[in-house]
Amino acid sequence: LDSQTSSQLLAGKKVIITAGPTREHIDPVRYMSNHSSGKMGYAIAEAALKLGAEVCLVSGPVNLNAPTQASLHKVNTAEEMLSAVMAEVQDCDIFIGCAAVADYKPTQAVDHKIKKSNIELTLTFVRNPDILASVAALPKPPFTVGFAAETQNVAQYAKDKLARKKLDLIAANDVSRSDIGFNSDENALTLYWADGEQPLAKANKQQIALQLLEAVAQRFNQKHS
Ligand code: CTP
Ligand code: CA
Repeated sequence: LDSQTSSQLLAGKKVIITAGPTREHIDPVRYMSNHSSGKMGYAIAEAALKLGAEVCLVSGPVNLNAPTQASLHKVNTAEEMLSAVMAEVQDCDIFIGCAAVADYKPTQAVDHKIKKSNIELTLTFVRNPDILASVAALPKPPFTVGFAAETQNVAQYAKDKLARKKLDLIAANDVSRSDIGFNSDENALTLYWADGEQPLAKANKQQIALQLLEAVAQRFNQKHS
């Protein structure tokens, strides 16, 4: 795409992006989380701004500077992330769920620090809400994009998630590859939608983000034409 077309691609569109990990409290000094760096989500936020979108970035704890033109909502837990998303989703055109949301939280977050003892410690966990599926299930959902982080059967699991969560598009990420993914500056994705797919060859996350959004804009326009 030439820069003229490119700069107009998401003009007037409100895009919400979730990014980074969530932290689920175990006790006042401990949490459960994952290795998500937030780099992919932040790169998508930057790219969406470049393409003229109004960007709302809902971010778990990361060591990155958010683009200054984005409206930033910092959250810790999956439940806080869901609330922040739901508060913003009303007038949203495109939702991109890039966060590595913890699937589970401790059944009980205890009020005081757990003291060690000489017997083993057992923690139990309950399911967190699925933010992406909740957005896609709204009466008037935005164009909804998910990520699928998989270590095996990548295409099949990604397509299952596309259908099960009623998404418009899913970006499949093979996280078993050590050269791409969570903490890396590079990524490679395969995009799937109801009647098509498109590989995005390994490139830095900025380039991948732009290519992803170009595909999203194309599918979005198709859906609304
Ligand atoms: N997601 C979400 N809320 C959750 C879990 C996942 O919004 N509680 C979103 C992620 O941001 C991602 C997509 O759902 O866009 C898929 O996440 P992934 O972990 O790959 O899939 P899950 O549905 O959680 O299934 P599993 O972890 O069992 O593969
Ligand atoms: Ca998951």
